[in-house]
Amino acid sequence: KNISIIGVPMDLGQMRRGVDMGPSAIRYAGVVERLENLGYRINDLGNIEIAQPERVHTSPDTNLRNLKAVAEGNTKLSQKVDEVIESGDFPLIFGGDHSIAIGTLAGVSKHYENLGVIWYDAHGDLNTGETSPSGNIHGMPLAVSLGIGHENLTTIGGFAPKIKPENIVIIGARSLDEGERELIKEKGIKVYTMHEVDRLGMTNVIEDAVSYLKDRTDGVHLSLDLDGLDPSDAPGVGTPVIGGISYRESHLAMEMLEESGLITSAEFVEVNPILDEKNKTASVAVALMGSLFGEKLL
Ligand code: ARG
Ligand code: MN
Ligand code: MN
Ligand code: MN
Repeated sequence: KNISIIGVPMDLGQMRRGVDMGPSAIRYAGVVERLENLGYRINDLGNIEIAQPERVHTSPDTNLRNLKAVAEGNTKLSQKVDEVIESGDFPLIFGGDHSIAIGTLAGVSKHYENLGVIWYDAHGDLNTGETSPSGNIHGMPLAVSLGIGHENLTTIGGFAPKIKPENIVIIGARSLDEGERELIKEKGIKVYTMHEVDRLGMTNVIEDAVSYLKDRTDGVHLSLDLDGLDPSDAPGVGTPVIGGISYRESHLAMEMLEESGLITSAEFVEVNPILDEKNKTASVAVALMGSLFGEKLL
């Protein structure tokens, strides 16, 4: 089995510089060797070229920050992801901020009738220009993939929506804006907030999520935002929220997802080495990838 790695040095979906160095930090933490040791052949396709404007660009007709550059980067990413799936490789994407899920999902969902998505995140990322408190596009990719939001983003890949609300499972949520809560209720999106993670335990959360997605989907994309983890375990993120999923729980979640055989593509986003402690967050990301791809102690 082959894995193709795509780095996306995108930091235009939010305001903390440095998350564009996420792909380097993850590679530096030894991801290729780690996955090779599991018997995979790794094709590291390098990074997508992303515009690096010196200043944040706003246009008078939208409150979406850096809309044009984010849309362009995601268009390139969607084509690359499409090619990888076409080639038969497993696409593994490194962010970059979470706005890159727009391009990833545009590329992946072309190949599935009923793509499932596991959104492992402190946030819902279900905002639109109207509901966003920040104008930051990294708070919008899940809405965009549902076909809700600015048309320069929803039309990437030439079709919309990319996913259906009933095929989404959010895990780890603990910071939702008002408009996001309304959208979750309106669309009936399945959410395991930290309350459910605490109450049920990660074992039951993943068992539930797997049985929920198993029959209704023909592929499942894992979109893992490192801020889904507690900031004590993953400090190198731009929008940390206290009270998150532990490293141990995340490790278990990845092992259980591997056992399920459900995951057909994955991305690890929001690693910001400038905000990190000795590349701890990138190392955590790589350790979780190890588990997701079948690492076992014995
Ligand atoms: N809800 C906030 C916003 O829309 C924060 C989003 C954080 N998203 C992320 N991918 N880290 O601005
Ligand atoms: Mn930059
Ligand atoms: Mn987040
Ligand atoms: Mn996110």
